[in-house]
Amino acid sequence: MADRVYIFDTTLRDGEQSPGCSMTVPEKLLMAHKLVELGVDILEAGFPIASEGDFEAVDAISREYPWVQVAALARAATVDIEIAARSLEKAKRPRIHTFIATSDIHLKYKLKKSQQQVLDEAVAAVELARSYTDDVEFSAEDATRTDYDYLEEISRAVVAAGARTVNLPDTTGYSVPEEYAALIGRMARALGDAAIVSVHCHDDLGLAVANSIAAVQAGARQIECTINGIGERAGNAALEEIVMTFNTRRDKLPFETKIVTQHLYSASQMLSQTITFGPQPNKAIVGENAFAHEAGIHQDGYLKEKSTYEIMDPKAVGVPESKLVLGKHSGRHALHDRCQHLGFQLDRDELDEVYLRFTAMADRKKGVRNEEIVALVHQVLGERTVVAAAND
Ligand code: KIV
Ligand code: ZN
Repeated sequence: MADRVYIFDTTLRDGEQSPGCSMTVPEKLLMAHKLVELGVDILEAGFPIASEGDFEAVDAISREYPWVQVAALARAATVDIEIAARSLEKAKRPRIHTFIATSDIHLKYKLKKSQQQVLDEAVAAVELARSYTDDVEFSAEDATRTDYDYLEEISRAVVAAGARTVNLPDTTGYSVPEEYAALIGRMARALGDAAIVSVHCHDDLGLAVANSIAAVQAGARQIECTINGIGERAGNAALEEIVMTFNTRRDKLPFETKIVTQHLYSASQMLSQTITFGPQPNKAIVGENAFAHEAGIHQDGYLKEKSTYEIMDPKAVGVPESKLVLGKHSGRHALHDRCQHLGFQLDRDELDEVYLRFTAMADRKKGVRNEEIVALVHQVLGERTVVAAAND
């Protein structure tokens, strides 16, 4: 049986706190509706101490979706935790997610605290959070650049204090998969059944998804991720990429999520319309070109058998159909197919002539639109009618 992996969505928190991504409370509510439909397990709705809007968003989402596990972020500080707890008052399944940095770099330059002080504050924060809810998550910020013995010590201590989930973020996107898997494996063995080990990867080196997956193979059972991979700097691990990797490579990755994948594309589109940018066209799973084929060899193979060039059914992620983009790399087979779709049954000579004009046009442009193909076909058929009439 496949092992269950929990999807912790932080689009409305880590995602929202990045440039160009801020959302109003009504926008967060709309996105939350989509995330609930998508089937995320935990929905991190904001960082209530950070702004009134974040407080209101956590409160509003908790009221609107009482059955959903809603998380609120809080530093390991009394006031943060009290405010997070207040924002979650209406949630039936509230999670307080408290964090403090643990790496030497952060301790020395940012916090100016000793390891013992940070450990004591982490334990106190978890104990306080537990006085409000049973569901407490602790994050060791910059875990991947933290001394591993200390990380294990603090992880054991917060679990003893009542944390049910221990998140070990690659806050700066510095780790590589083999290294991250070794760290997560060690911590998963140390904590055993006492807590779920969670991962939260940033994409500074483009490795957030690979690191998250390697971590699950090593024992993590919660992944923190965002729609379209939005988040601080280069972003977080993209939810859609993680889920579709599990679904597509079950042979290698026997892990299961509860994500309803048919909503992935619409969730991506809704987010793009809410924030100031969408995914790049060649973005995996949800980019405009993710199921588009232009090269003649690819189009020919695809038209003979889709699996030659497609490893996923676009409908599985909510994309209505694959696209054959007609451009200078396209072949006769694809043009013939398009002409048939547009209602033209061309004979061999007609197709040759249309193809000749099509390649001349495609050479000058980035792509040829359906209307332009129709015009070319009319041109060729029209000229042929005139010649035929003249010959009669
Ligand atoms: O990147 C990070 O370390 C975070 C924590 C607050 C979980 O976002
Ligand atoms: Zn983060």
